[in-house]
Amino acid sequence: MTRSVVLLGSTGSIGTQSLDVIARNPGGFRVAALAAGGARVDLLARQAAEFRPEAVAVADPAAVPALREALSALGVTAKVLAGPEGVAEAAAWPSDMVLNGITGALGLTSTLAALKAGRTLALANKESLIVGGPLVKRLAGPGQLIPVDSEHSALAQCLWAASPTGHDPSAVRRLIVTASGGPFRGRPRAELTGVTPEQALAHPTWSMGPVITVNSATLVNKGLEVIEAHLLFDIGFDRITVVVHPQSMIHSMVEFTDGSVVAQASPPDMRLPISLALGWPGRVAGAASPVDWTRAHTWTFEPLDDEAFPAVALARHVGEAGGTAPAVYNAANEVCVEAFLAGRLPFPGIVDTVAAVVAEHTVTEAGSVEEVLAADTWARVRARELTGAA
Ligand SMILES: NC(=O)c1ccc[n+]([C@@H]2O[C@H](COP(=O)([O-])OP(=O)(O)OC[C@H]3O[C@@H](n4cnc5c(N)ncnc54)[C@H](OP(=O)(O)O)[C@@H]3O)[C@@H](O)[C@H]2O)c1
Repeated sequence: MTRSVVLLGSTGSIGTQSLDVIARNPGGFRVAALAAGGARVDLLARQAAEFRPEAVAVADPAAVPALREALSALGVTAKVLAGPEGVAEAAAWPSDMVLNGITGALGLTSTLAALKAGRTLALANKESLIVGGPLVKRLAGPGQLIPVDSEHSALAQCLWAASPTGHDPSAVRRLIVTASGGPFRGRPRAELTGVTPEQALAHPTWSMGPVITVNSATLVNKGLEVIEAHLLFDIGFDRITVVVHPQSMIHSMVEFTDGSVVAQASPPDMRLPISLALGWPGRVAGAASPVDWTRAHTWTFEPLDDEAFPAVALARHVGEAGGTAPAVYNAANEVCVEAFLAGRLPFPGIVDTVAAVVAEHTVTEAGSVEEVLAADTWARVRARELTGAA
């Protein structure tokens, strides 16, 4: 049966790769609605012309006239939804599943809207789970959240392979989340002061949007993923280990209580976890190329250097604190990434500033969206003050 998909963040790295998966499987999937921010209206209109969704949403209301014009020039009659409310409306649009590929904490509203509408949610926007942890978990029914992040897709596959009838946390000794180490792997902290945005944006194994690419260089992305793994699989932080694996071929592993380790391996290509999330629990044949076992490979593993890259230890700290602490970590980081890309903050200053903002924050429960957004806003204001952008 053809699955209808709402795609949020369709013009980004995850969004365009998702459309590639859908285009190559016309019998498997169709697009019900598309949503984007508004920075690439022509691309959004071309996507609508190709995939013929019922609705197209754009978060920036100022982009609506240009979108209408571009759609009309291409003969597209889809309903246009405007503003953040329009994106949330798209998230709840009738469909079999929603893929949230929006970047950053502003994806939270759409995650909540999709879950409230009862949709199965393929979640690339990890920030919404981390920021809205208890809220998202409370809303999500069993099987309603499907991970898109390659590491969490790998963990889900390892857990499923070991126990297809249901995940049994008591059989798991630990989750082993792999990290490429980013472009600055092996460098001591003292050498990181002068690194440039261009260097940070040159990821050795993955091609992704700018925020997640910088987050991969600082290892903040891995910190977010540790929290994500904790929330998705109900495993304590003391049983989640990060291992640096520069080749990005093993996407994560699960160690069981009998000493067995199950790993998931494939060349780095997001179309694999995207297709698995869209087709879950079915696999989409030909989604990506497998490992070529006729060639020699060397795959290496090394511990994380917590002194040069303190972001993971800080993420464990905020994850354990819970409540509004992860939202503050994420929001401060988003501001610091902007400051680094604008040349206002040296690279090590990103995590140092996040740590300073986290240290000043008084953690509260995160029992409502308003409370989470208030913590997010406070952290952004404080991070802007500390990075000279206030
Ligand atoms: N890229 C990867 O390989 C990868 C891997 C794992 C996880 N992820 C996660 O996936 C998410 C997306 O990452 P990405 O690399 O695809 O980011 P990206 O390339 O920067 O794309 C972001 C998308 O979000 C849209 N957007 C921005 N603001 C929006 C808003 N207010 N409402 C609706 N859409 C909005 C953008 O639209 P405009 O074009 O109009 O700006 C764009 O389509 C992130 O949470 C990231 O951590 C990405």
